[in-house]
Amino acid sequence: MAIGNFEEKISVFEKEAKEAINQAPDLPRLEAIKVKYLGRKGEFNNLVKELPGISGDLRAHIGRRLNSLRSDLETLIGEKFHKLKDESIEKQLKSEGIDISIPGKGVSFGHLHPLTKVERRVEDIFKSLGFSIVFGPEIESEYYNFDALNIPKDHPAREMQDTFWLKDFRSEDPKKNFLLRTQTSNMQVRYMEKNNPPLRIIVPGRVYRYEATDASHEIQFHQVEGLMIDKNISMVNLKAVFEEFFKKFFDKKKVEIRFRPGYFPFVEPGIEVDIKLGDSSKWLEVAGAGMAHPKVFRAARYVPGEWQGFAFGMGLDRLAMLYYGINDIRLFYSGDFRFLKQF
Ligand code: DAH
Repeated sequence: MAIGNFEEKISVFEKEAKEAINQAPDLPRLEAIKVKYLGRKGEFNNLVKELPGISGDLRAHIGRRLNSLRSDLETLIGEKFHKLKDESIEKQLKSEGIDISIPGKGVSFGHLHPLTKVERRVEDIFKSLGFSIVFGPEIESEYYNFDALNIPKDHPAREMQDTFWLKDFRSEDPKKNFLLRTQTSNMQVRYMEKNNPPLRIIVPGRVYRYEATDASHEIQFHQVEGLMIDKNISMVNLKAVFEEFFKKFFDKKKVEIRFRPGYFPFVEPGIEVDIKLGDSSKWLEVAGAGMAHPKVFRAARYVPGEWQGFAFGMGLDRLAMLYYGINDIRLFYSGDFRFLKQF
């Protein structure tokens, strides 16, 4: 072979091999390139095999050239290997690694329902005023819900409280005729039957009315009943308790209380209670109340002349609506997280 041709062949080989190495896209393909050019049966060795056919000085010259070419290619492959290795580690880290600078995902915790929060707030304040917290049954007899509270069958006040009756538990006997309680007042006689005065209790709880719903009416809602019985209790005590309660509940220095006449069969006199908060000029209706009726005492077997006391009933939902500025009672029962998550 003419020597010029051989040198030419080496140059072509060199160019091709270097290009292939430089362009190797990943480690496996770099390995394949190494085998192809520098492997035992690779192209470089094919060139070496031709050396014996070259004579004398020239052979030494070509030999050196091939040696240095081999080491060049090995260096080049080594460099490329490290470069590809770094890239692949980088890529892996990017796909699997933890980037501690990314903001964490929020974990959402459950929390109390706004009505529960308000109920607990009410309970805490009354506890601080010496009241005990008492709970009563939601399935109640006609007797405790109505008759014992001076609301017999034909009483017009029954119409104000459209009632869910339990159809499998109807009876002529009011004590065996069952309903869903329409008012927490059901606990008045129940509690007095079992406890002697003096007493101070509140009864928070759920009540039911069979009526059309709108922004201020629900078929179920919550009330807080209050009862304070002692020797010398009057409306003045009631006013003082309300003043203290509403000041604390609404976090206001000044609360004005207004009593208007109202009718509830289980109190005499009966009143409606309005409050005015701080510097507002608006009266808000917040409770029904009055002095416990002698007939209620009689139902509880208290001697009427001996004891006096006041009773009151507040709508817990209404308190919560005023407290949080909510305009539709139905939201409390909607189970809508967009609403509930705001509390
Ligand atoms: N139970 C009454 C209602 O549901 C509210 C009420 C009024 C309760 C006057 C009382 C009271 O204890 O004295 O409308």
